Amino acid sequence: MTNFVTITDVGPRDGLQNQATILSPNQRTDIIKGLVAAGVGHIEVGSFVSPKAVPAMAGASDIYQQLAAGNQADNQAQYQSLIPNAKGYELAKQAGAKSVMMVVCATETMNQKNVRMSIADGLTQTKAMIAQGIEDNINVICCIAVAWQCPFEGKTDPQQVIKMAVELSEAGAQDIIIADTIGAATPLAVEQLMNALAAAIPVEKLACHFHDTRAMGVANVYAALTAGIRKFDASLGGLGGCPFAPGATGNVATEDVVMMLHQMGYETGIDLEKLMQVSELAGDMLNQKIGGRAHVWRKLQLEKGLPLA
Ligand code: COA
Ligand code: ZN
Repeated sequence: MTNFVTITDVGPRDGLQNQATILSPNQRTDIIKGLVAAGVGHIEVGSFVSPKAVPAMAGASDIYQQLAAGNQADNQAQYQSLIPNAKGYELAKQAGAKSVMMVVCATETMNQKNVRMSIADGLTQTKAMIAQGIEDNINVICCIAVAWQCPFEGKTDPQQVIKMAVELSEAGAQDIIIADTIGAATPLAVEQLMNALAAAIPVEKLACHFHDTRAMGVANVYAALTAGIRKFDASLGGLGGCPFAPGATGNVATEDVVMMLHQMGYETGIDLEKLMQVSELAGDMLNQKIGGRAHVWRKLQLEKGLPLA
């Protein structure tokens, strides 16, 4: 099994969509460029959604324009954006997006709150986008949200998640993200669901997305690793929160995940020191203290010239 773990930093989208301070497309581009310079190979750069629904994500096409105008180093990273519907797909395509991400929630209430659609309609729409993406050479990543627990309906039925993942995989989805939107999963529940999913669809298609609401983010990443998962979403400085899921806090911090992976002998291609600097830049822009759980410790060790592993 491969030693390389692919990290998608979803901070510029999941991390910034629900902040009190709204960052301009210019500021968001600076964060994205910092992530690229830190060696992050996959970045969720924004959302093509209704600016009325999520004001902080307005201007996604400006970000694509600025990234395209950037230096050569930018081209090494793969950018993706969240889309909620066909309109979002068209806008992303016009902006030059090569990869888009569609969310379908595993519970009816949450899917209604998020995109005002039933799960069945969400799946139909997502499958249509996958087919369109194959035609346009655009990668359509699927995300199954509230996969362990829903803020409105409680524990999610694992069979429902498996059924949806199989349907999306059979429709041609190359990447299926299993998301703990509110950070309520435990390592045991992660191990069980990811093992069941890996038995149902090719494991290399599966990714995990954890929020750190109850401090189990890193433990959940470890549990998914043991089930063979090698793709994870994380957010610089642990930024995040969903505007439609009450109680959800930030994603597991990219720094914390990368630190654990490197210390366990996995490779990510990410330079942790540079990543920490980007988190600090984002913190300054948002005027808040961020950084994940190990940030302060790592900073002090660096200042004192002490070992980091
Ligand atoms: N991008 C930009 N604008 C969009 C859009 C898109 N992808 N989809 C719809 N709109 C606009 C419509 O043009 C319309 O604008 P108007 O009021 O100026 O005429 C308005 O949004 C409402 O459109 P409608 O089709 O009736 O959608 P809705 O009111 O049922 O809202 C969504 C549904 C999906 C557009 C909206 O809820 C949304 O953008 N949600 C974002 C979800 C999200 O980002 N979640 C993040 C956590 S996963
Ligand atoms: Zn999330």
